[in-house]
Amino acid sequence: MGRVIAIANQKGGVGKTTTSINLSACLAEKGKKVLVIDTDPQGNTTSGLGIDKNDLDNTVYELILGECSIYDCIVKDAIPNVSVLPSNVNLAAAEIELIGVDKKEFILKNEVDFVKDDYDFIIIDCPPSLNLLTINAMTTADSVLVPIQCEFYALEGLSQLIHTVNLIKERLNPDLEMEGVVFTMYDSRTNLSMQVVENVKANLQENICDTVIPRNIRLAEAPSYGMPITMYDPKSSGADSYRKLADELINRKGA
Ligand SMILES: Nc1ncnc2c1ncn2[C@@H]1O[C@H](COP(=O)(O)OP(=O)(O)O)[C@@H](O)[C@H]1O
Ligand SMILES: [Mg+2]
Repeated sequence: MGRVIAIANQKGGVGKTTTSINLSACLAEKGKKVLVIDTDPQGNTTSGLGIDKNDLDNTVYELILGECSIYDCIVKDAIPNVSVLPSNVNLAAAEIELIGVDKKEFILKNEVDFVKDDYDFIIIDCPPSLNLLTINAMTTADSVLVPIQCEFYALEGLSQLIHTVNLIKERLNPDLEMEGVVFTMYDSRTNLSMQVVENVKANLQENICDTVIPRNIRLAEAPSYGMPITMYDPKSSGADSYRKLADELINRKGA
């Protein structure tokens, strides 16, 4: 059965989408079957995997409104071994549409249950907020991976995020675990990145991934070509680091 990992941090710009796209591509490169779920109305994971987000009949929005089945919604093999549940700006209205709907925290989970056996990994890219879409991601997930940008305010908001994970574990998804945090945009030329890593290690009682994702311009360029880093520049430091992260996650649970 597929391992479901939500990539979450309510801060924007920390590398959630970059991690979702490239971790998925690297897992796929290692022969794993991957489903990526885009729960951010910005749809950057969708377009970053080469899908035209404005030309879709069925997206996560239609799915959670019950207007299509998960089978209608999946874009199969957007790249080899990576299928996508896509999103676009329509999803921004979902929270309002779901007012008063029964069990609205479990809509995504109930759908994903149908296809969980078809994949080795299901990666969920979360929006930059702690809203109903994030809650749906966390009720669906087995674990939460938190990208942390190596910058001065790295720890800001982290206790709120961990509190949210704990609340969801207590009340909605007792099996939810913290996969841990992964440092992103590490710049070896500055002391700041190193200090941030040291500071987080000293203050955070959570699992910290051994792999650190460097700042690499190729990672920032790839989405505009609709490609993951494994296709855009497979020999870059960005590609190498996401391969290491994929290995780390595969080996952690022997999936
Ligand atoms: N390791 C990296 N090196 C260089 N640029 C990066 C890296 N990770 C992310 N970026 C860039 O930083 C910006 C924010 O990243 P993104 O993954 O979209 O964050 P989030 O999904 O958390 O909002 C994007 O422009 C992205 O291309
Ligand atoms: Mg994003």
